[in-house]
Amino acid sequence: MHHTILITGGAGFIGSHVVRLFVNTYPHYQIVNLDALTYAGNLENLEDIQDKPNYIFEKGDITDEPFINKLFEKYKFDGVIHLAAESHVDRSIMDPLAFIKTNVMGTATLLNAARQYWKDDMKGKLFYHVSTDEVYGSLGEEGFFTEETCYDPRSPYSASKASSDHFVMAYYHTYHLPAIISNCSNNYGSHHFPEKLIPLAIHNIKNNKPVPVYGKGENIRDWLYVNDHARAIDTIFHKGRVGETYNIGGFNEWKNIDLINLLCIIMDKKLGRAPGTSAQLITFVKDRAGHDLRYAIDATKLNKELGWTPSLQFEEGLEKTVEWYLSNEQWLDHVTSGAYQEYYSDQYQKR
Ligand code: NAD
Ligand code: DAU
Repeated sequence: MHHTILITGGAGFIGSHVVRLFVNTYPHYQIVNLDALTYAGNLENLEDIQDKPNYIFEKGDITDEPFINKLFEKYKFDGVIHLAAESHVDRSIMDPLAFIKTNVMGTATLLNAARQYWKDDMKGKLFYHVSTDEVYGSLGEEGFFTEETCYDPRSPYSASKASSDHFVMAYYHTYHLPAIISNCSNNYGSHHFPEKLIPLAIHNIKNNKPVPVYGKGENIRDWLYVNDHARAIDTIFHKGRVGETYNIGGFNEWKNIDLINLLCIIMDKKLGRAPGTSAQLITFVKDRAGHDLRYAIDATKLNKELGWTPSLQFEEGLEKTVEWYLSNEQWLDHVTSGAYQEYYSDQYQKR
């Protein structure tokens, strides 16, 4: 039973869902959310749980070794769920070094702190590293990524995540650090930063702005509702086997252009627009450099070993996501205006 858990990147998209799930499901756990509050970190994502007695926020950088060591001393963590990362492929093409710093050095810094802090008693400890299906590279028209697929990262983002995965397994084999990795497909849902395809398209359609589709829109992604990813992380954290990796995905492949067309239909319906109105905003733009063609996860191991299955069909999840964005205009306004970055200082000055 883990009592004090460090969750990194808890102010981000997936991290905030994981923090909320753990804080609400396990009132007897102490959850410490460590986040540097980069452009992607937003404490408004956690407004509903910020005053819970089993929740603590710590602002800090995972690459800051003295700070991380002090944090381990202070809280005596017995579990780590590591999500903090630079996460956007397009940004990694513009600024690869930022990705190497946070994703590689930051992960190694956390691993090293855990190794030092746990070295005399590894029993009951767990370092859970949250990773991506992008480490496996790009698929052709057939086949799936399994846990046995060789790593073949092709973007600076995926190379940095692949490297961090290798360090996790190196620490497991070399120092017997109890570690687990999961590799998940594309997430969607509430609180998703509007630089990524689905929230960007929702935002642009709502504001009658062009919806940029890279290349011909023929790239394929395998989409999973973010709450289902958080549930999978909960399952793996509590029931997964140390030293293993688990693939997480929804068997839900969509060509980008088909996904955007479906989203346009939902948006027309929700906004009371005539059918076909939103689709007129679709604009084909220059392709992403090195754009991976297709991702598709085989999540059989997670299903067979640990009994996890996704809870939502994509059409239902996408509709719920659109509804969330349309009824949380303030969240989106704060993100697009930059006001969300003042939330932290406002909140903490009040205390
Ligand atoms: P995100 O960009 O929304 O959030 C990342 C969070 O990490 C932010 O709150 C940010 O402030 C924080 N952070 C960044 N650098 C930091 C640093 N140096 N120190 C401390 N905190 C820092 O990302 P996300 O989409 O929620 O992804 C979370 C994790 O899940 C990442 O590791 C990502 O690789 C992985 N993942 C994401 C997806 C997806 O579809 N979004 C799919 C599979 C795996
Ligand atoms: O597969 C998991 C990965 O999914 C995660 O590891 C990453 O952190 C996450 O960002 C996501 O990566 P993608 O590159 O697949 O997501 P993104 O939303 O940026 O793009 C989805 C697809 O849509 C991709 O084929 C590129 C395309 N695209 C994206 C944007 C932002 C467009 O056509 N237009 C756009 O404006």
